[in-house]
Amino acid sequence: MALPTPILLLLTFTVFITASADPDMLQDLCVADLSSGIKINGFPCKDSASVTQSDFFSQGIANPGLTNNTFGSLVTGANVMTIPGLNTLGVSLARIDYAPGGLNPPHTHPRATEIVFVLEGTLDVGFLTTANRLISQSLKKGEVFAFPKGLVHFQKNNGNVPASVIAAFNSQFPGTQSLGATLFGSTPPVPDNILAQAFQTSPGKIKHIKSKFQPKK
Ligand SMILES: *[C@@H]1O[C@H](CO)[C@@H](O)[C@H](O)[C@H]1NC(C)=O
Repeated sequence: MALPTPILLLLTFTVFITASADPDMLQDLCVADLSSGIKINGFPCKDSASVTQSDFFSQGIANPGLTNNTFGSLVTGANVMTIPGLNTLGVSLARIDYAPGGLNPPHTHPRATEIVFVLEGTLDVGFLTTANRLISQSLKKGEVFAFPKGLVHFQKNNGNVPASVIAAFNSQFPGTQSLGATLFGSTPPVPDNILAQAFQTSPGKIKHIKSKFQPKK
């Protein structure tokens, strides 16, 4: 059965807008001038005469990151902030390392879909839909999993050896909002009575959780 043209157009348009992340580029390259004071969507382009190969290069994710922290994981970005040549290109990478037992806690990337490739070890990963359905998977070396743009997701190393992934994003700077840190570690803080009501618990329990996230004075 053929669909009427208006419905086909609507479907095509919907696929187009939901597949796009960063805006498309209008020139060959636009290496970010990260020190410019001009505020635009992205970064202004530096003078093309001063562009070199180093603007497109990084060794930052060649080696494992240190995972001796609270969550036993570390995300190391390879995005426009470290590879200025990525400005306007709509892609970036990260490397994530996980100690045995390490967790990359629930978080979202407001500007990008993420796809991970397991370099070493095993991981239990998942994301949550807006209907609160958990889509989860166990991964081993060489396997790939995708986390749709904007949805809450996590990765946990339940193995007894370190694990690591390479993550790719369809944004030069995907942004990360970690639920625990954003709700319990913000400045200024979200009032205790708001969090107590939201989580259906007491302000005392909220204070206890906040003490784990707020910067030590
Ligand atoms: C993590 O390990 C590194 C290297 O061994 C060390 O320099 C650093 O102080 C450690 N950090 C913590 C928080 O223990």
